[in-house]
Amino acid sequence: MKGYGVTIAGVGQYAPPGILANKDFEKLVDTTDEWIVQRTGMKRRHIAADHEATSDIALPAARAALEAAGKLPADLDCVVVATATPDYPFPATACILASRLGLVGTPAFDVQVACSGFVYGLTAAAALVRSGVYKTVLLLGAETLSKITDYTDRTTCVLFGDGVGAVVLERSDADCFLGCNLGTDGSDVSALYLPVGGSRNPSGRKGMAGADRGAFIRMQGQSVFKLAVQQMVAATLSALDQAGLAPADVDFLIPHQANLRIIDATVKALKLPVERCVINIQEYGNTSSASIPMALAEAVADGRIKDGQVIVFAAFGGGLSWGAVVWRWKGARARIATQPAAVAKATA
Ligand code: ACO
Repeated sequence: MKGYGVTIAGVGQYAPPGILANKDFEKLVDTTDEWIVQRTGMKRRHIAADHEATSDIALPAARAALEAAGKLPADLDCVVVATATPDYPFPATACILASRLGLVGTPAFDVQVACSGFVYGLTAAAALVRSGVYKTVLLLGAETLSKITDYTDRTTCVLFGDGVGAVVLERSDADCFLGCNLGTDGSDVSALYLPVGGSRNPSGRKGMAGADRGAFIRMQGQSVFKLAVQQMVAATLSALDQAGLAPADVDFLIPHQANLRIIDATVKALKLPVERCVINIQEYGNTSSASIPMALAEAVADGRIKDGQVIVFAAFGGGLSWGAVVWRWKGARARIATQPAAVAKATA
């Protein structure tokens, strides 16, 4: 399939200014700052305002990535949004975002693979560039998980936050996509899902919406935990094998930020020093498909990631799904879009 090379030309990040700190949850549910830090590594999460949908917080990240890449919206051939929290079940959030960027007629579509969305989106978007279909593609991992979080359920509400990471992919002489491995096992949906709002349980059906709180994330934390480590390690090793590389060749692992203990166990199984893993879970919690590009933006912006380095993006999530992409970094810039700090109010 390979015909052209692909590179990341710019990276952007945006996190809404509203904050939910661990202490705030002590007022909402039976939990403690200590429990949350010990079991998850999380300290704060950024939360979108009530009036903000996913495309609203995606826009500043998209603009930041374009600016970092030295591009204008008109340079884009395609817009792809990985999200489990679209503005609506349809149309695709990518269509709304493309319009907000001033684009008319540009192809745009969503990728929905829960927390694995960015690695799936990267594989698909890179294939569009490598095959010669498009030259320049904007890919975002964008989430407002606070909108589908049950703030009366202590087993899930402390985990999730909102945010967006964006990359501009561009045709290049050098090919930075070195290998990938993706997978799913859909045999037990109840491990991690949003029960209401799809065709199985339409939200308009009598007695469905709200009453049983089915419009919120449901998760069997421990079974997801076990699979997460196994599959992120296996996917990383397979993707490295496809690239003709070994874990010792990896300069940075950027894993999905779901739980610090999952990240620690993955790093240990791959025999990587923890300094070679990008971790920002303490600041953002689990932002699903946004967590990897948000972490990438920070590690590029602070100079950790340098030209020529080998990076592995590894994720797992609802589906259940998992995946890893091996990438050679080629000197792109990152820009973090910011707004003044404010305090968010959780809606119990
Ligand atoms: N505060 C205090 N106690 C709590 C809390 C809390 N916030 N949450 C759970 N507990 C309690 C439980 O009720 C349980 O109490 P019990 O022993 O009296 O029954 C006890 O703590 C232990 O619960 P466990 O579920 O065994 O805790 P665990 O150590 O497994 O941590 C966690 C739970 C953090 C959810 C962990 O299992 C995890 O991270 N799982 C993976 C989550 C994940 O990665 N999801 C995928 C991505 S999400 C997506 O795709 C959208």
